[in-house]
Amino acid sequence: MLHLLPLIAALVPFTTSTPVTKSDSDPLPLIIWHGLGDNYAADGLHSVGDLAMETNPGTFVYYIRIDESPDSDKTATFLGNLTEQVQHVCEDVASHPILSTAPGVNALGFSQGGQFLRGYIERCNFPPVKNLVTFGSQHNGIAKYQSCGSTDWLCKAWIGLLKGNTWSNYVQSRLVPAQYFRSTNESTGEPDDEYLEYSNFLADINNERKLKNATYAKNLASLDKFAMYLFEDDSTVVPKESGWFAQTNLSSGHVTPLRERKIYKEDWIGLKALDEKGGLDFKTTKGGHMDLGDKILIDVFETYFAPPKEEGKKASWYSGKIDNVHEELMEL
Ligand SMILES: *[C@@H]1O[C@H](CO)[C@@H](O)[C@H](O)[C@H]1NC(C)=O
Ligand SMILES: *[C@@H]1O[C@H](CO)[C@@H](O)[C@H](O)[C@H]1NC(C)=O
Ligand SMILES: *[C@@H]1O[C@H](CO)[C@@H](O)[C@H](O)[C@H]1NC(C)=O
Ligand SMILES: *[C@@H]1O[C@H](CO)[C@@H](O)[C@H](O)[C@H]1NC(C)=O
Repeated sequence: MLHLLPLIAALVPFTTSTPVTKSDSDPLPLIIWHGLGDNYAADGLHSVGDLAMETNPGTFVYYIRIDESPDSDKTATFLGNLTEQVQHVCEDVASHPILSTAPGVNALGFSQGGQFLRGYIERCNFPPVKNLVTFGSQHNGIAKYQSCGSTDWLCKAWIGLLKGNTWSNYVQSRLVPAQYFRSTNESTGEPDDEYLEYSNFLADINNERKLKNATYAKNLASLDKFAMYLFEDDSTVVPKESGWFAQTNLSSGHVTPLRERKIYKEDWIGLKALDEKGGLDFKTTKGGHMDLGDKILIDVFETYFAPPKEEGKKASWYSGKIDNVHEELMEL
C-alpha cells in the first residue's frame, strides 16, 4: 500500500472543483527490478524509490516482485525459471491499474534485474519502457558465479550444486544465475555450443542463436535512452565489462567492446540502431558492485527520468483517467 501514497497525493488537486493546470507533463511511472539476494520490500530499495519521488515529484514507483511475500521474492532471485519469471512480471505490470494506464514507464535495473528488465522490454513491453538504466548488470552474462552473501546458506547450497551442472535441464530450469552464465572457447572467443543450445535465458534474449527474433531488436531500439552503468571496481561480477555488453578474455584481460562485436555489427537486438540515434550511453561510477550513493542516483533521475519541460505542454497522462484510476485505487 505504501507505494500508492504518492499517487494519491498527486490526485488531490484534481478532486477539487476547480481544474488545476500543470505547467509540465508528469513524470512517467518508474519500475525498479532489484538484484540477487534482495527483495522488493527492502528498506534500501525503497529509499531509492523515495529519492526518485523527491527528485521528480509525482513519480509513481513500482517495485517488481515475483512473489508478494518478501521472503519468497528473495528466494526467487536465485531459484526459478526466468522464462516464467519474466512472463509473470509482464502480466503483473500489464494488469496493474496505474502502470497499465500510463503512456510508458521508465525502468531501473540493479545487477541481474537489469538484464531481466531487458527481457521484459524485448518480449512484452506493455506498457512500453521509455528509458532504461542498469547498474552493474550482466548483459553479456557471467563467466563465474558470484557469491551469495556470507550467511545466505540456502543460496550457497544451491550455487554449490551448479559446479559442473550448469547446462543440465534441471539447473537451467531452476537456478537463476545459471540462466545468464555464458561460456566461451578461450582460443576463438566464440560461445560454447552447450551455452547456445541449453541457456534458458541469455542466449535467447541476446539473440545469439541462428534464428533471431526481430521483435526483440525492434523493442529495444524503440527506447529513448538506454544507460548502462559500470562500477569501476566491481569484483563481484566477472567480468564486470558485461555491464556494457563487452567480451572479456579472462586469460589476457583483453576487452572487446560492444561496437566491435557481432551482436552490435549485425544488430541482433537493436543496440546499433539505438546507438545511431544517440540512445545508448556507456557510463561508469566509482566503487564496487552496487556501491550507490544519493548523488549518482539523483543525477540518473534528473538525466533520464525527469519529465520533458516543454512550454505549454499541459497534458498529464492521468488527467481524464483520474476517475477510473481513483475507483480502482478504492478497490485495492
Ligand atoms: C519473438 O518474440 C515475441 C515476443 O516475445 C513472440 O511473441 C514471438 O513468438 C517470438 N517469435 C519467435 C519466432 O520465436
Ligand atoms: C522454463 O519455462 C518455460 C515455460 O514454462 C518452459 O517452456 C521451459 O522448458 C522451461 N525451461 C527449462 C530449462 O525447463
Ligand atoms: C576451441 O576452439 C578450437 C578451434 O576451433 C578447438 O580446436 C578447440 O577444441 C576448442 N576448445 C574447446 C575446449 O572446445
Ligand atoms: C585469450 O588470451 C589468451 C592468452 O593471452 C590467448 O591465447 C587467446 O588466443 C585469447 N583468445 C582470443 C579469442 O583472443
